[in-house]
Order: sequence, then C-alpha cells, then structure tokens
Amino acid sequence: MTVADRATAGFRQRYRTEPAGRWAAPGRVNLIGEHTDYNDGFVLPFALPLRTVVAAAPDPDGRWTVWSELDDEPVEFGAAEADEPGGVDGWAAYVAGVVWALRAAGHDVPGARLAVASDVPVGSGLSSSAAIESAVLAALVDLGGLDLPAQAWHRLAQRAENDYVGAPTGIMDQSAVIRGREGHALFLDCRTEEVEQIPFDLDAAGLAVLVIDSRAPHRHADGEYAARRRSCERGAAALGVAALRDVDVAGLDTALARLDDDETRRRVRHVVTENQRVLDTVALLRAGRVRDTGPLLTASHASMRDDFEITVPEIDTAVEAALSAGAYGARMTGGGFGGCVLALVDADAADPVAAAVTEAYAKRGFTAPGTLTVRPAGGVTRLG
Ligand code: GLA
Repeated sequence: MTVADRATAGFRQRYRTEPAGRWAAPGRVNLIGEHTDYNDGFVLPFALPLRTVVAAAPDPDGRWTVWSELDDEPVEFGAAEADEPGGVDGWAAYVAGVVWALRAAGHDVPGARLAVASDVPVGSGLSSSAAIESAVLAALVDLGGLDLPAQAWHRLAQRAENDYVGAPTGIMDQSAVIRGREGHALFLDCRTEEVEQIPFDLDAAGLAVLVIDSRAPHRHADGEYAARRRSCERGAAALGVAALRDVDVAGLDTALARLDDDETRRRVRHVVTENQRVLDTVALLRAGRVRDTGPLLTASHASMRDDFEITVPEIDTAVEAALSAGAYGARMTGGGFGGCVLALVDADAADPVAAAVTEAYAKRGFTAPGTLTVRPAGGVTRLG
C-alpha cells in the first residue's frame, strides 16, 4: 500500500468515515550548508520523494484527534492543551504545535480528525518532524479556509517546533519541506529568506545521490545542537557582528585572531567556510558542473568532523568507505551525532558504493546501515 493509501485506510478504520482530503509533505536532505541556518547563512537542501501523508476531516466538536500508524493509540486534545506549550507531548506535540502556532497568530483553527502515515524514517535526520508539521499545517489551512499566504508557512511550522516542541532549530528543514521543487535544490539565504531554485538534474548528469542511514544511536543530539548554537552566538558577540554570516572567508583569519579560545575559533571557522562552500556549490550547479561539487561536499564533512565536532564513528566510517569506493564526494547531512550521510556517485555506482559501506560497517561491528538513492522532489501539496 502506498503511504497515501495507508493514511486513508487508517482514517477510515479509526473514524468510520471518509477523509475530506489528504495532504503530503516530504522529508529532506541537505546537499550542503550545515549549521549555517541559525547563523543567518546559506543552505542548499532538497525535498525527498519520501513523504508523510495526513488524511483529515473537520471535527464538529472543535477538538483535535490524531492517529498515527506508528502508535495505535490516538491522541486527543482541545484548545486548552494546544494553547499551553507542553500540554501535549510525544509525537503528537508536532501536531499540537501547529495548532498552537496558528492560534497564536490569530487564526480560527478548525477542529479536525487526522490520520498520519509516513515513509520518512523517524530519527534518521531526514526531517520527519518538519514533514508532519507541514502536512498538518496544509490540512488545517485548507480545512479552515485560513488566510495564510504560502510565504508564511515555513516560519509558522518552525515556531511549532521551536516554541511548542522546544527544539531550537533553524529555518532550513521547514523551508525545504514546504518550498522544495522537483529536480531542484533550494538555495536559501536564511537572513533575507530569499530563495532560488537551482536545477539539480542528477539523471541528466548520469549521477545519483546515495543516502546512507548511519543507524547510529543519537548521542545527546539535542543538548549538543543547542551547545553549538551557543558557541556560534558567543563567537558572533566576540566579533561584534549580528551573526556569523557577517564574517566572510576573506576576513576569516583576522576574525580568528581576535578570538581567544580555540573551540570558538573552530566553530566560527566551520560556519564561515561552510557558507562559502554553499556559494561555491551553487556556482558549480549553475554552470552544470554537478560532478565537480564532490570535493566541496567532502570538505564540508571534514569541517563538521574536525572543527564543528558533530560527527560520530559510524558517520565517518560511511563517508570514508563511500569515498574509497569511488564517490565524488560524501558528507554527513543534518544536525549531526547520527543521522544520514549523502554520497554523490555515478548512477551505476550506487549499488557498489552502498555495498562497500555495508562491508566497512560489518568490519567495525556496527549495525548495518540503510541505503537508498534519492532525487529532488516537490514540497508540501494537497493530494485530493
Ligand atoms: C537540524 C535543524 C536545522 C539545521 C540543521 C543543521 O536539521 O533542524 O535547522 O540547523 O540541523 O544544518
């Protein structure tokens, strides 16, 4: 059964009626530009063909009930719980967070019954949370006929995550999931929120992006993410700039010389060089030189490993094995401390590279990785 059919079947079985519609939102990977979004910098993610689908219908009592195929017990809440961050916890907090963010922005949010099915793996760093937030947002906007322009959606979904769920993430994931376009990577300036759709046609170039799920247990990912954010803020404050975006590679050495602790210096160096790598990647893609982006991806990984210190042994093993097996470039994607690696490979090399990574994992005694090849897909949409 497709994910859309699973959402519909779940809805029928749970609520004994037909949904009014179905809304789908994808997961994402980030091609390059890691931990730059909350530094007002640049990112280049794309939406995945893996999607989360929400089947929904209005609830006459003005309450919200959510069922997910991952958890047989539905979660029900009313305005009181939705209006209080923390009032709903667990996976349903992403749903309640969207209701909260809409209500906080003054919208008259319709009560709804929802059924959620997903092909986006949870906890793999592919933004399953942004996918559920965005699909629920689309459903509630449509069901309620809410006047919410598309340009406002990503910020609203981010508020759900930051202020209701309590994860201090940047704007990249929701932007990719909402604004992604098939065959394109999304070049986003996180300060101005300007976007440019950059053609990223892997098939035409005879290439593939292999995504390797490291299956590494998340090690203190939330606390470490928040700590990296604080380091960046400390660095910006010490340099007297609004955000690390305001330091460019030409001014990097001077900036580093003004910082007195080594850890902050390395965090700053990652962000500044990573912003430049995004710009360089965009320039190569614009010139149709997809293959030549490989070394930038690999340099991004080295920077995350050595300067930002957010990789783990499983992730580094996957990157090294992919490169040894002939990938043009490979890097961890997402927040770090686990999650996925992406590798740019010849289309016919995807299987052998995946096999090489699996073998390297077995040698180290790690749980076998998951592998799949992906293409840039479209953002959130109504399925009908
Ligand atoms: C997570 C966050 C994003 C971004 C990345 C790192 O995915 O949700 O906002 O900060 O980490 O690039």
